[in-house]
Amino acid sequence: MTSQMTSQMNLPRPPAIELIDLHPPAADMRQLVRDGMARQPRQLPAWFLYDAEGSKLFDRICEQPEYGLTRTEINLLECKALEIAAALGDGVIVEFGAGSARKVGPLLKALQPPAYVALDISADHLQQAITKLQQAHPTVAMLGICCDHSQLETLPDHPLLRGQRRLGFFPGSSLGNFNRQDAEELLRRFRRILAGGPLLLGLDHPKPASVLEAAYDDAAGVSAAFARNLLHRLNQDLQADFDPQRFRYQAHWQPEASRVEMALISRCPQQVSIADEHWSFDDGEALVTEYSVKYSPVMAIELAAEAGWRCARRWHDPDDSLSLHLLEAAD
Ligand code: AVJ
Repeated sequence: MTSQMTSQMNLPRPPAIELIDLHPPAADMRQLVRDGMARQPRQLPAWFLYDAEGSKLFDRICEQPEYGLTRTEINLLECKALEIAAALGDGVIVEFGAGSARKVGPLLKALQPPAYVALDISADHLQQAITKLQQAHPTVAMLGICCDHSQLETLPDHPLLRGQRRLGFFPGSSLGNFNRQDAEELLRRFRRILAGGPLLLGLDHPKPASVLEAAYDDAAGVSAAFARNLLHRLNQDLQADFDPQRFRYQAHWQPEASRVEMALISRCPQQVSIADEHWSFDDGEALVTEYSVKYSPVMAIELAAEAGWRCARRWHDPDDSLSLHLLEAAD
């Protein structure tokens, strides 16, 4: 008997984490850069921000005093977990873009679902997040599915999902990164994936410009570093030659579009090359790193309706700064 086998027999076995890898195809970043640089204004996909360093910086943004979204939403989930669980009813929780899965805890506790299914593009993230969560919730079976949920048609067939109602969970106002048409398409896709089950959707509200601009450009400079990290990433992964210091960061509330535009603004006329392709930036020219669309409850109802959902209920924090919407499939 090998020593490895002995140790496996003597130690309490850690709960087996099951992971289905659908092998989402690696994006052609170079082509996406070409497309993005041809837009007016220039804009790169928001997910470019989340390499290993960017993910760390995002976690730090969530701790900044000006960025209340994460704290407020977690608080709301904790306060209303029992009510939300009762309204959701029985079923398996399916979280879209689970990341480090730090928000589903209160729901797991209140609902005690037979299973929790986490979807994420990063297999490493999933493995880590679920392993940790499993320890806190040993009675809930857990399954990770590594996939790109914006391309997914159906969930893979699995015993944990078979014959169960599906309860979708999409917190964090992540929908805010999508433009109107893509947001609608994503919600329609979630409706198909959830096959008749409800969706709990977290959306941040419009707020005064000063509040939002501070939230997305904090005094400690973490938001700026997060945006600038995009240039480091392009340098590293695509052999670009951006000088991040030649761009200043700006977060600007655009009330007519109900969104915060985050951009890197060229401080001077300059040329950048990405591999063997060259682009010039005018002085003051913007490269949009992401948009964060803010949905009032009325806007949310409208968007949901376009995507085949009905807003059945809404929970909000004491300041009414964000909502958790319970969407039900409209027929
Ligand atoms: C992850 C898209 C919800 O828009 O608030 C925060 C991203 N970017 N600060 C947001 C973000 C800069 C965040 N979302």
